[in-house]
Amino acid sequence: MNPIAYRERALFLDQVPLADIAAKAGTPCYVYSAQAILENYRAYDEAFGSQPHTVCYAVKANSNLGILKLLAQAGAGFDIVSGGELYRVLKAGGDPKKIVFSGVGKTVSEIDAALTAGIYVFNCESEPELALIDALAHRHGIQARVAMRVNPDVDAATHHYISTGRLAHKFGIDISEAEAVYERACQNENLLIEGVSCHIGSQLMNPEPVMEAVDRVLTLIDRLRMKGFDIRHADLGGGLGVAYKPEDATPTISSFIAQMCERLKGRGLHATIEPGRSIVGAAGVLLTRVLYRKTTGDKNFVVVDAAMNDLIRPALYSAYHDILPVRETGAPKSKVDVVGPVCETGDFLAKDRELPEVMPGDMLAICTAGAYGFVQSSNYNSRPRAAEVLVEENSWRVIRKRETYEDLVRGEVE
Ligand code: LLP
Repeated sequence: MNPIAYRERALFLDQVPLADIAAKAGTPCYVYSAQAILENYRAYDEAFGSQPHTVCYAVKANSNLGILKLLAQAGAGFDIVSGGELYRVLKAGGDPKKIVFSGVGKTVSEIDAALTAGIYVFNCESEPELALIDALAHRHGIQARVAMRVNPDVDAATHHYISTGRLAHKFGIDISEAEAVYERACQNENLLIEGVSCHIGSQLMNPEPVMEAVDRVLTLIDRLRMKGFDIRHADLGGGLGVAYKPEDATPTISSFIAQMCERLKGRGLHATIEPGRSIVGAAGVLLTRVLYRKTTGDKNFVVVDAAMNDLIRPALYSAYHDILPVRETGAPKSKVDVVGPVCETGDFLAKDRELPEVMPGDMLAICTAGAYGFVQSSNYNSRPRAAEVLVEENSWRVIRKRETYEDLVRGEVE
């Protein structure tokens, strides 16, 4: 369900007028709907039905403690890619036994911390990493559960920066070499090699390539089992993409998961999935205030107080985010570029966008900004990072304070 709607010309997120939040929390400010996040998580969880599974929320999409706690309390597992994400999940009360650790470059201290915490499984991406986990597990006097992340060589049909499942990408081990790797790996006494994992990309609008990857992984699992490997679980990658434009068509979470369950039926496997974007993406907006309007040549600019340092997706991936005025005025529309104060031509939030005429002081909501928004923000141009707010039913609270100038220089030495 879309949490954003106009009521008598005022834009609401769930039961709360966004103008109220902008007035009190200031701008730029990320605002998330707890209800939408939980609904999306539950849609995954319920779609699996009787298939044994864990939905491991991909922390990288939005790692705010308030959101992690919400999901931990709902019973979610977590997909982490760094020691920092592990720290956050544990701090938010996440269950270590439901944590999967992905990523191509795990360091000694990160693996140590994950072993100490007792995570569920390492999704291992190379043989040297396998050897390191084995050695560190030995030092801890335990066996570490691992799944090899295989690269199924499937084109995810998404932006090339976020496509991960072709052999030219840095991720996983070549699926055609996987059996040999498993055979060598079983000589490591401190590893429990019980799984296979894969991930082919993000913002996936078409489930077909995912199902092709799943089929390849399940074929591999059949072959490994025939060779006597006790493969107990399959990690089937990230979640669905989200509709950034009103006309974008995404399959439903339930039909996506049903297609997976169909393939998993009768195999006695525990399934994990690592959705991020589809849990938090549409649940959040970035609120920004119009500073100026200006015209140069035949270009009309709306200068706002949010910038590429707050939301880098338009600059980095040419991503489209819908923009809605927080107060509907019925003013005529015209074509504008919505730009921020950062000193780069690449600092834009929308290009050639038809927007109702807005005036300095008006508020805009940049939609579908809950995933890969704040987490990718920076202090570029010495801009303090934005505040974050969580809406729970008809109340809201700040879950991350706006940074101050002191925060900007913390840790620096003159
Ligand atoms: N698991 C792994 C191993 C991943 O690499 C990712 C995303 C996910 C799960 C979550 O995928 P999702 O359900 O969110 O599609 N910054 C980019 C997105 C990068 C995604 C990287 N990996 C963006 O703003 O579009």
